[in-house]
Amino acid sequence: MKLSRRYEAIPPSGTMAVVQKAALLKRQGIDVVSFAAGEPDFDTPPAIVAAMAQAATSGETRYPAVLGLPALREAIAAKATRRYGVPFTAASAIVTPGAKFALWAAFQALVDPGDEVLVPTPCWVSYGPQIAMAQGVMVPVPCAPPDFELDLEAFERAITPRTVGLVLSLPMNPTGRLVARETLAKLAALALRHDLWIVSDDLYADLCWGQHDGRVSGAALFDAHPEVRDRVVIVDGPSKSHAMTGWRVGWALVPDALVAPFSLLLGQIATGVTTFAQHGALQALTGDHAFLDAWNDAYRRRAHLVVDGLQALGLPTALPEGAFYALADVRSLIHPTAAHPTLADDVAIATQWLDHAHVAVVPGSAFHAPGFVRLSFACSEARIAEGLARLRHLIGNPP
Ligand SMILES: Cc1ncc(COP(=O)(O)O)c(C=O)c1O
Repeated sequence: MKLSRRYEAIPPSGTMAVVQKAALLKRQGIDVVSFAAGEPDFDTPPAIVAAMAQAATSGETRYPAVLGLPALREAIAAKATRRYGVPFTAASAIVTPGAKFALWAAFQALVDPGDEVLVPTPCWVSYGPQIAMAQGVMVPVPCAPPDFELDLEAFERAITPRTVGLVLSLPMNPTGRLVARETLAKLAALALRHDLWIVSDDLYADLCWGQHDGRVSGAALFDAHPEVRDRVVIVDGPSKSHAMTGWRVGWALVPDALVAPFSLLLGQIATGVTTFAQHGALQALTGDHAFLDAWNDAYRRRAHLVVDGLQALGLPTALPEGAFYALADVRSLIHPTAAHPTLADDVAIATQWLDHAHVAVVPGSAFHAPGFVRLSFACSEARIAEGLARLRHLIGNPP
């Protein structure tokens, strides 16, 4: 059967093989220490589950309003007003099936064939394919190790007459890094100067457990230049902050011009988001958040454990400031020999760690970070210690 050219143009993931192999080993009963998860190891808080169940059993099971439950849209706008310090109305808040759909819809609405979108790298795996689905071109703007600081000059250099916008996600997946407050202000000014839109993926903005003075998340985007707001699409949701990855609820806060495109895309493709799941999300936004402090404390402790352990193995790793990922520099391990001619890149390192230590990580090339691997610390301190011990043994006794 002939597949469409549009489909063929979407770049395949070259790294899923390692992740799939880890799942296979686990199914075979092998004790794999997984640092590969892109989701919290905590359970959705019971009050949220109860609100969803209550809605489902009391008949909230019919088609949803396309743009979302009015009460949820109000709660999203209220949270955004608190977080960003500029007023948002429910009319600009649109509920989507996960943050991922919101990102896809934004690119569908904003990108024409051949348009260029600047994305600081390392970056999350789906921006490139989603921009490609809109027939645009993702232009990577590298943030250099060891700190992965956003490079304003690199942004300026990357701008061409085809540049239409840029994507931000702070804290970043896969580095967990924030940005200096003045850099974010200058980036907002750059967007204004060059007439660019910004998609701000703030999915991890509630997970800033390492935040200190002068380092900020996407929540600070409007601080210096509130006028940038007319050109910003905010993408957010409870998937990571409330351990709700399987609920498939997210949202966007969009400028007026984007409400109609989002409505069209949602209406024709998804009809909206599962009605009773939206009631759970409403509880997530309006209920008690005390659990988040405990979770963030756990992430902070784990981050130090992971980074100290990796540094002790001779693998430089920037200390994350949020999210639950660390990006380790494994370039010192990449040296193909006659015995191991294939140990040529981060995919080979991740495969070796999985095969010989039963430790799963995601190769950095998935995130435009060749020579690095991403470790998720959404697992217990005991598992982190076990995984690091296995890696110490492997690196000390290479196969
Ligand atoms: C940076 C980033 N944005 C968006 C998403 C997608 O979120 P959701 O599960 O709400 O669709 C992820 C999931 O891993 C992510 O890491």
